[in-house]
Amino acid sequence: MEKFIVIGGKRLKGTIRVSGAKNAILPILAASLLAEGISTVNEVPRLRDVLAMKDVLRYLGAVVSYEGNTIRVDGAKVQSLEIGEDLMRRMRASNLVMGSLLGRFGNIRVAYPGGCAIGSRPMDLHLKGFAALGARITERHGYVIAETDGLRGAEIHMDFPSVGATENLMMAATQARGQTIIRNAAKEPELVDLQNFLNGLGARIRGAGTDLIKIEGPTRLGSANHTVIPDRIEAGTHMVAAAITGGEISVENVIPEHVEAVTAKLREAGAVVEEGEDLVRVIGPSRIKPVDVRTLPYPGFPTDMQAQMMVLMTAAEGTGIVSESVFENRYKHVDELRRMGASIKIEGRVAIVKGIPKLSGTIVEATDLRAGAALVLAGLIAEDATVIENVAHIDRGYENLERKYAALGARIMRVNGI
Ligand code: EPZ
Repeated sequence: MEKFIVIGGKRLKGTIRVSGAKNAILPILAASLLAEGISTVNEVPRLRDVLAMKDVLRYLGAVVSYEGNTIRVDGAKVQSLEIGEDLMRRMRASNLVMGSLLGRFGNIRVAYPGGCAIGSRPMDLHLKGFAALGARITERHGYVIAETDGLRGAEIHMDFPSVGATENLMMAATQARGQTIIRNAAKEPELVDLQNFLNGLGARIRGAGTDLIKIEGPTRLGSANHTVIPDRIEAGTHMVAAAITGGEISVENVIPEHVEAVTAKLREAGAVVEEGEDLVRVIGPSRIKPVDVRTLPYPGFPTDMQAQMMVLMTAAEGTGIVSESVFENRYKHVDELRRMGASIKIEGRVAIVKGIPKLSGTIVEATDLRAGAALVLAGLIAEDATVIENVAHIDRGYENLERKYAALGARIMRVNGI
């Protein structure tokens, strides 16, 4: 099991380039299963989650090549096979293939996705939407089966703007007869990127990025060449790294609008954030002010930045309040931060974070992707050495994070665990 060793106390300075967005790439790769031609996706970082999705596509019969930062998927020979527990446990986002397989083949059989450490993540909104499009849904022995003799366009009102459910329904609806309208849709930038990719294949979708998306179907989907948007959560993580170490980082390959909520909070905490055309420059404050953060669907403060923001609050002069309103249990990182001396009180979905002068290095464990990234940030400011175990979680969503931070002056290295 690989680990990071981080020795705190260095201010990070310099330039860092953000990679392509994991949460745009995964639904786009799932959408490539709808196409009979070749889907080329550029700016794809080498992430464990991308490798996992590549394996799912190959298992389903797609011919996939992954050279450098470009993935090519030939969907001609894809078939709808059962997605078993092993694939789903490896990565919950494997459930994003459901919409494509149901749309193209009229049937799917998928094991319930293993819940991440951030709470059970049901699929009820996905299944309700598939049923509205005319699929018959049955659940037995831990499997979900959906069958249809032909999807029909429908008006779907989402109970909650679920990112994955909106994506799955968009993909399925490209093959439904007639118009589908999705109301209360998720508005994340990754939905816009998925719409652009699908329309590049020949789909007819409008409205992604708003809460009302219209899809005309059925459409035959051929080939596309697409470059994914930058990863706004990776960008936000680097912005916090500058703020928390009192450093100065120019974060490049960023769409400033996509990180607006993080920019606003970091300014409130006392950081200077300058926005350029495709970069943001962050200068960390000498004193970090406590702020209150409530996570919300986009354009609210992103839940994927909650752990990173909480770490910033552990170094603030005062008490900050963090409310996680998207996931019911996304505080696994709190126990690890407490081991470093952080003073955090949890009351339901609210965390009360009392800033302390210094965290102290110790052995901690990454419990999920963003918690792991947050522990790296904590290690950057902690006294002495912090050993972060199970960094495979971090590699799911960050490409060579330790190398990127070492290039900014951090004392961080990857070691092979015993
Ligand atoms: C996507 O997950 C992201 N993953 C997550 O990023 C992100 O945290 C999340 O959206 C919210 O922004 C990918 O894009 C691959 P949701 P997803 O469906 O689609 C509940 C990361 O760190 N819900 O919007 O699974 C669910 O339990 C990952 O990169 C239902 O109740 O998120 C949760 O509480 C972590 N029923 C809330 O909605 C459903 O059918 C948000 O889930 C579906 C979801």
